[in-house]
Amino acid sequence: MVDQTLARSFLTAGADYDRYRPGFPAEAADAIVPASARVALDLGAGTGKFTELLVGRVDRVIAVEPSEQMLAILRAKLPGVETMIGAAESIPASDHSVDVVTVAQAFHWFDREPACAEIARVLVPGGVLGLLWNRTDPRCAWDRACHRVAHPAVGDTDETTSSAAEQLPGFDVVERVTVPWAESISRADYIARWHTVSSFMTASDAERARMTADVERILDADPATAGREILDLPQITDVYVYRARV
Ligand SMILES: C[S@@+](CC[C@H](N)C(=O)[O-])C[C@H]1O[C@@H](n2cnc3c(N)ncnc32)[C@H](O)[C@@H]1O
Repeated sequence: MVDQTLARSFLTAGADYDRYRPGFPAEAADAIVPASARVALDLGAGTGKFTELLVGRVDRVIAVEPSEQMLAILRAKLPGVETMIGAAESIPASDHSVDVVTVAQAFHWFDREPACAEIARVLVPGGVLGLLWNRTDPRCAWDRACHRVAHPAVGDTDETTSSAAEQLPGFDVVERVTVPWAESISRADYIARWHTVSSFMTASDAERARMTADVERILDADPATAGREILDLPQITDVYVYRARV
């Protein structure tokens, strides 16, 4: 069941989201987009953090996203991308018109059954669906501790990995690829990033201040981050590749 309050929190978060959230490694797009693909549709495209990796890989890139604020930022960054306001459960594209659908950091927000039916409808027979999520590297103790501040109920998993899909109606699993990578991020941006995470955005002011103080305490205490302005943050991107059943 999708939490609509959390889902709606993305409707207002565009600029901060684009500034502070991590991007994705090129290897993730390599794993999803076949060389023969001509048209790709990025669903729940947000501000285009994954969409930008589709540009240059296919002839035509379409971004579908329910938030006009997010999409306005995407349009400014990626003027060659076609943009449409829309949702996964009702995709504004014609039948069998797309070779690849990608969903970065967003599939867990979708109503799964109708979204899968819609993705299968817009894909060509045998078309590719790629789902991907960034997650914390379990070897990074300080980042893991900060995730526990944001998501105490799920312990060491975060909001995304907990809903990663294996079997999807109408699709066959092709492969799962795990891409480790690293990001240099300032301490200030790392803290600001947490303010773009749904549990921080939907918290009361007092609760958000407590969560922020907890994150600062973790950074002050861990030898890998104490006294540092630039943090070396390991990331893992999980990629799930599916093919539409013919
Ligand atoms: C965590 S953001 C990811 C954005 C972008 N794909 C990225 O990786 O930066 C989740 C996105 O899913 C969108 N979203 C939420 N519910 C959706 C739905 N039912 N259909 C399509 N997009 C949805 C939100 O508006 C938001 O832009």
